[in-house]
Amino acid sequence: MWMESLQDLFFFIDEEGVFYALDLGGTNFRVLRVELGGKDRGVVHQEFAEASIPPALMSGSSDALFDYIAEKLASFVNDEERIYEQPAGKERELGFTFSFPVMQNSINSGTLIRWTKGFSIDDAVGQDVVVEITKALKRKGVDMRVAALINDTIGTLAGGRHSDPDVSVAVILGTGSNAAYVERAQAIPKWHGPLPKSGEMAINMEWGNFRSSHLPLTEYDSAMDAESLNPGEQIFEKLISGMYLGEILRRVLLRLAEEACFFGDEIPAKLRSPFILRTPEMSAMHHDTSPDLKVVGDKLKSVLEISHTSVKKRRVVVELINIISSRGARLAAAGILGVLKKLGKDVSKEKTIIAMDGGLYEHYTEYRKCLESTVFDLLGDATGTSVVFEHYVDGSGIGAALIAASHSLYLDDKF
Ligand code: GLC
Repeated sequence: MWMESLQDLFFFIDEEGVFYALDLGGTNFRVLRVELGGKDRGVVHQEFAEASIPPALMSGSSDALFDYIAEKLASFVNDEERIYEQPAGKERELGFTFSFPVMQNSINSGTLIRWTKGFSIDDAVGQDVVVEITKALKRKGVDMRVAALINDTIGTLAGGRHSDPDVSVAVILGTGSNAAYVERAQAIPKWHGPLPKSGEMAINMEWGNFRSSHLPLTEYDSAMDAESLNPGEQIFEKLISGMYLGEILRRVLLRLAEEACFFGDEIPAKLRSPFILRTPEMSAMHHDTSPDLKVVGDKLKSVLEISHTSVKKRRVVVELINIISSRGARLAAAGILGVLKKLGKDVSKEKTIIAMDGGLYEHYTEYRKCLESTVFDLLGDATGTSVVFEHYVDGSGIGAALIAASHSLYLDDKF
């Protein structure tokens, strides 16, 4: 089942002023202050602060999570009061990037359908997350209005398209994974509302929840899914995204230890600990170029307490990493090809920019190279050069500020 949300976002105005963004999509969140300089100047200045969500809050209560976030927002605003003064009578306006499946009801309201990426806060499901954050902001004394609620894919698409109109697809590869694209409104049979002026709409695919009997699921995937917080959900995401690649590797190594005494007679105790092997560690091992695979040896020791591994064993570990990471990257590439095909961009000579963001894409070079080369292989020579990948750093935060600006209450001041 694919979740889609449709928004008429692309009426960017040449707004000037300061807007805020709150970007919550994983274990870290960011608050941003973005200064827009009006027509032709775009984003003239931005500042941000980042904080991580304490693990206990990922499965606590809705109030506890939103209070924590509102507190950080309060101290960000207090800090900046020294450098920036909000004009009297004008409320601060916020674009809220909330990167979980939401049933969007309007530009600034939406109910949480379910959590993904390791969050599990039952009393938030079914609630309007804008109402929740607004109540928390009030409790913490922050005077701020949520002007727009968006997803990270939509933010990246909007931020990318604002700087280059050839951006028509956005893909996030981070803790989770998802894609969004720009579609002609007339080509969307589900849309019964008024047609947007631009004639275009953004579609958030929630592709992480795609599943099909054609997906190459192994017993490791099935076991990981069954033991996860959201069994049966986000199956595509569990094959391709950063939250899960390291965990798949751990499961394979454990099996090797159990059935082939790969690490000696004893099974290393740490190998039994779910999610202990994170994707950044797996990536560091994958990129190890030292002749004796020193990084692999060091990581096995520091993370799993497995010492004295032979170079031969380390090579096997790297080969496994390569298999798991290229499977993920190639499946993600297949997803991207599907979107390009839907848009007819797989046969078009017109330039298409795919706006990319997320820690997995940014930091895991081998994964990124495999993803991009697979897309080009699948496209063949005909369109190879018209499709371009671009990394939009902070696209989702900036996109949220831009969309907040285009839905500002104070637009009438100027027009
Ligand atoms: C998960 C979320 C989705 C988000 C993606 C990338 O799949 O459900 O909304 O866009 O992660 O952060």
